Amino acid sequence: MRALVFDKNGLENLKVMDVEKPQLDPHSVLIRVRAASVNPVDYATVVSIRNVTPIPHIPGAEFAGVVEAVGDHVKEVKPGDRVAVYSRLFDGSCDMCLAGQEMLCRKGGLIGIVSNGGYAEYAVVPAKNVFRVSDNIEWELAASLSIGALTAYHALRLASVSPGEVVVVVGASGNTGLFAVQLAKIMGAKVVAVTRKQWLREFGADEVVDLDNAYKAVERISGGSMADVVIDPQGTQTISKSIKLLGTNGRVVTFGALTGDELRISIREVFSKQLRIIGSTGGTRREMLDLVRMAEERKLRVKVWRSYDLDHGVDALKNLFSSERDGKIMILP
Ligand SMILES: NC(=O)c1ccc[n+]([C@@H]2O[C@H](COP(=O)([O-])OP(=O)(O)OC[C@H]3O[C@@H](n4cnc5c(N)ncnc54)[C@H](OP(=O)(O)O)[C@@H]3O)[C@@H](O)[C@H]2O)c1
Ligand SMILES: [Zn+2]
Repeated sequence: MRALVFDKNGLENLKVMDVEKPQLDPHSVLIRVRAASVNPVDYATVVSIRNVTPIPHIPGAEFAGVVEAVGDHVKEVKPGDRVAVYSRLFDGSCDMCLAGQEMLCRKGGLIGIVSNGGYAEYAVVPAKNVFRVSDNIEWELAASLSIGALTAYHALRLASVSPGEVVVVVGASGNTGLFAVQLAKIMGAKVVAVTRKQWLREFGADEVVDLDNAYKAVERISGGSMADVVIDPQGTQTISKSIKLLGTNGRVVTFGALTGDELRISIREVFSKQLRIIGSTGGTRREMLDLVRMAEERKLRVKVWRSYDLDHGVDALKNLFSSERDGKIMILP
């Protein structure tokens, strides 16, 4: 089969190659990949993450496709089924898994980092990682549920967003941001999208502003009480301003450090307003099921900027941080 493969870090080392089709084991599923997302984690996998396995390595953490064959013990899906892949490998037996927190599995890891991913014609994943999706869900959306949508959904749930609250989404046009906007809206919040783009209103945002104008917009929409929740995966460049947007009992959620890892904070501001800083990562399979159902009901959408075939996969990754980028980047193997 054809796949994007690298054997040492660096975009210049990522090549389309003919490699052996992956082998099924009794509990796994062979998928003909139809769409895969390009996320910052995939870029990092190729460029900077050490110790990915196996080497040579196929990246691609978030993907969907058609079941081609199943292992002898697999009953949940059959050849021909359309599936989205839950991106975290997990053992199902540790204390975190037993608590329904597969993304925190003690022995887990991300598909595409600790195993080969979806930038290939075929991929093999454990049967417990696949979710059947109907024809109602386009491939690009199915391949955006397990990282983009799931990370946003889990973050909003950890922040206990309730109807009528004001939720600010920073980096709202990004892979996670565009779902955070839609999901916060579904949860009944008033949503302020902080972004350099304009189209977030089409995805349900009540206000669309850049970071410099966010304070005034949040003040206006909240009637002066400021934000209940801010979702900010951007890190150093924005998070101090994000925290300033919070009102009493406000919660800021972070799951990324796209622009840097350091945070300076006023402790007095945190305790006097009773703020909470919440770390979040990934999401559970139960939450993935919720998202599949929302997608089936056509409550979720994606905006795709560009799609690439495997031959142009390197360009797909190169364009992730392009200033022209205006929506998601997909690889359609
Ligand atoms: N822990 C987890 O489970 C998890 C899961 C998913 C993602 N993440 C992390 O969360 C972060 C966001 O992920 P994502 O997939 O949403 O990223 P993304 O699609 O690249 O979106 C980031 C958005 O941030 C805005 N932005 C502002 N300044 C930027 C800058 N200097 N560089 C790049 N973007 C900038 C852009 O939106 P505007 O143009 O709208 O301003 C951009 O679309 C990443 O660090 C990622 O690794 C973590
Ligand atoms: Zn576990």
